[in-house]
Amino acid sequence: MTEYLLEMRGIVKQFGGVRALNGIDIKIKAGECVGLCGENGAGKSTLMKVLSGVYPHGTWDGEILWRGQPLRAQSIRDTEAAGIVIIHQELMLVPELTVAENIFLGNEITLPGGRLDYAAMNRRAEELLAELNIRDVNVVLPVKNYGGGHQQLIEIAKALNKQAKLLILDEPSSSLTASEIEVLLNIIHALKAKGVTCVYISHKLDEVAAICDTIVVIRDGQHIATTAMSEMNIDRIIAQMVGREMNQLYPQRRHAPGEVVFEARNITCYDADNPQRKRVDNISFSLRQGEILGIAGLVGAGRTELVSAIFGAYQGAFEGEVLLRGERLDTSTPRKAIECGLAMVPEDRKQHGIIPDMSVGQNITMSVLHEFSRGTRIDQEAELKTIRGEIASVRLKTASPFLPITGLSGGNQQKAVLSKMLLTKPKILILDEPTRGVDVGAKFEIYQLMFDLASQGMSIIMVSSELAEVLGISDRVLVIGEGKLRGDFVNDNLSQETVLTAALDQT
Ligand SMILES: Nc1ncnc2c1ncn2[C@@H]1O[C@H](COP(=O)(O)OP(=O)(O)OP(=O)(O)O)[C@@H](O)[C@H]1O
Ligand SMILES: [Mg+2]
Repeated sequence: MTEYLLEMRGIVKQFGGVRALNGIDIKIKAGECVGLCGENGAGKSTLMKVLSGVYPHGTWDGEILWRGQPLRAQSIRDTEAAGIVIIHQELMLVPELTVAENIFLGNEITLPGGRLDYAAMNRRAEELLAELNIRDVNVVLPVKNYGGGHQQLIEIAKALNKQAKLLILDEPSSSLTASEIEVLLNIIHALKAKGVTCVYISHKLDEVAAICDTIVVIRDGQHIATTAMSEMNIDRIIAQMVGREMNQLYPQRRHAPGEVVFEARNITCYDADNPQRKRVDNISFSLRQGEILGIAGLVGAGRTELVSAIFGAYQGAFEGEVLLRGERLDTSTPRKAIECGLAMVPEDRKQHGIIPDMSVGQNITMSVLHEFSRGTRIDQEAELKTIRGEIASVRLKTASPFLPITGLSGGNQQKAVLSKMLLTKPKILILDEPTRGVDVGAKFEIYQLMFDLASQGMSIIMVSSELAEVLGISDRVLVIGEGKLRGDFVNDNLSQETVLTAALDQT
């Protein structure tokens, strides 16, 4: 018997001309928790898709040994049967099905005779969610009723139900709050104690450092190093990831906000299913020219609802006024909002940000296509020039603008959505979790881009669950709690504590 639970040898994966994995070797011991780190596009998700059978044996080169034996999976079913379970970076839930149906999809509990045992599945689903400390999810409601954070937890519950020997978590925490992440990390500890092996992928390196025993770093499809966490620290992980030292996480502040240009007045949003309930309760705020306004708060506090309402994208009923330079705007739909000079990069890029069937380039120019129309035809040369310019300016990593957008790594898809919105030349740019799933180097680039846009006079509203990020780049911080405005602070060495205290304020 080998001492390794898993060995991946010389793994090569090509997509057309792009070599995503270039001969990777990794070994994982039973019971350890491995942090798989690397920049956006390094190949982390691809490597885990090879391992979990998403890419069947034969579509890649190299060899996988699972408990010493060759693993030649044809599908994810084969690997699940072997005890390898993956939680994907992009959520795979079916929005129309109930929470319980999603958890048991492909894994249903049946009654003698073959009919589905809904009662048992609902009960078990409740238990699983209770283990994750989730009390506010009704398992018989459709998944689409719940936001990103809850959906992520439901996906985790689904995986926990599968009795994994090796559990792969690809960016599991990107839409979770600090307390939800704590629950998740505790669960991983408990699984580890039961002998379950984990591969944990996250750009939140503090989590990786807290939970992992071993750090595997890959860069450009190649293995860089495998090191015990006891011999590592976050700076060293970053240095291995980017191939250089990074001594600064946020750009220096240089812009000075001007006068008030934008106002949101008395915004109230009603729950789509329960119109009695207010998700956002009478919030007003203003925004100066060239100002970066951070919106902090816990997940579920109403931050996304607030910015969606301003942009005309809120699903339920909402009221309030939006003014630009004193003039009332009609932002009843996103299209009208864009015409008025607003733009929003949504939190959930899979649902609202990208069109999966289109290429990288088509996604980028989607909102400004009219600018390239010459009579009945499209000036493709001009369009391509714009696309290439955008790709360069946000440093989007893609082999070609003609690739399908779904072929980009998570962080690079995020940059494509940002590009798309920037092309509409907004006066007010709303970013909901703009650096979710984005690596440290690319984060810095996105912050730099935001600073440049602000110093050119664009006003930016940024919702973020990463408090360090809010404090690192905002000129001012709004704190939202339970749908109400709990604080409006100028960020003059504002402390995390002040913001958290406001967010948790029970009065
Ligand atoms: N289906 C695909 N078609 C074409 N290229 C792909 C496909 N999937 C991945 N790639 C390419 O393979 C490389 C690795 O992507 P991968 O998604 O594995 O990166 P990652 O390390 O998971 O990044 P992130 O941190 O952004 O999630 C990227 O250059 C990506 O563009
Ligand atoms: Mg990935």
